[in-house]
Amino acid sequence: MGSGIAETVIESGFQATLLSRTSETAHAMGEAIKSSFERKTAKERKTVIRAEEELSRLNVTNQITDLADCDLVIETVVEDLEVKLRVIKNLDAVCKADAIIATNTSTFPIIDLAMATQRPDKVCGIHFFNPAQVMKLIEIVKTLVVSEETIQTATSFALSCNKEPVIVKDQAGFIVNALLFPYLNNAVKLLEQGVAAKEDIDTAMKGGCGFPMGPFALLDLVGLDTALSILNSLYDEFKDPNFAPAMLLKRMVTAGMLGRKNGFGFYSY
Ligand code: CAA
Repeated sequence: MGSGIAETVIESGFQATLLSRTSETAHAMGEAIKSSFERKTAKERKTVIRAEEELSRLNVTNQITDLADCDLVIETVVEDLEVKLRVIKNLDAVCKADAIIATNTSTFPIIDLAMATQRPDKVCGIHFFNPAQVMKLIEIVKTLVVSEETIQTATSFALSCNKEPVIVKDQAGFIVNALLFPYLNNAVKLLEQGVAAKEDIDTAMKGGCGFPMGPFALLDLVGLDTALSILNSLYDEFKDPNFAPAMLLKRMVTAGMLGRKNGFGFYSY
């Protein structure tokens, strides 16, 4: 997600600093963007000169202090509240006082993250969708304490990235995941019940509903660990049994089957 967002940001004319944990992972994320640009130039979607100009506005780093002068910071770390809180507090300490700190969390209450900073009025959700370079939607998530100015800036940013922003209140799952994840979870339950093969369930939802991907291909794209974390957060918030993660999903995550990101999920890559 992080490199997909950075790619979108530099393509939209902004300067971007991409922070990763180590110099190796930072380098790998920069390389992923370069490869994507090479594919786009090969397909004549952009010129080599334009790709070089856009890449010149990207700085990849593993030093959090390199974010000190940024106007807007978007965290996209793993869906683990403790990790997110730690990262947000570190960002709050390093970033300039008037910077907006946004989170790309899929489900955690934004207010929990906002109140961990000294600037809760400048913290909001800016939620991209996978793959971030392609999907048009951005959910802008509004807490009880965020300022209108922060929401306006986040919305203008989304529009400048040629995305379609929607404003949503700070409730687990926001709009898309609150509707999408019960569907994905129920697909896993159908598979567990032996109703049909995964390939046939995917074929059915593409052919029968016009979805671009079936539920298992989509779960692999999102990441099974991320999907499990989203369902757990939805279940924690609403205590609705429909959000309780399917047993098979839990077992696959425990078995290290995470989807496309490590090559093994419902399908092999
Ligand atoms: N990463 C980056 N770019 C990708 C990509 C990926 N994983 N997969 C496809 N693309 C790009 C391709 O390079 C291609 O770009 P160009 O047009 O510039 O050549 C473009 O997307 C279209 O790709 P394809 O022609 O290969 O395939 P497609 O038309 O089937 O589109 C798709 C692929 C965009 C992924 C499409 O299948 C789709 O929209 N799937 C549904 C995705 C979805 O529902 N996402 C939301 C997930 S939920 C979420 O993200 C929320 C959360 O909090 C977890």
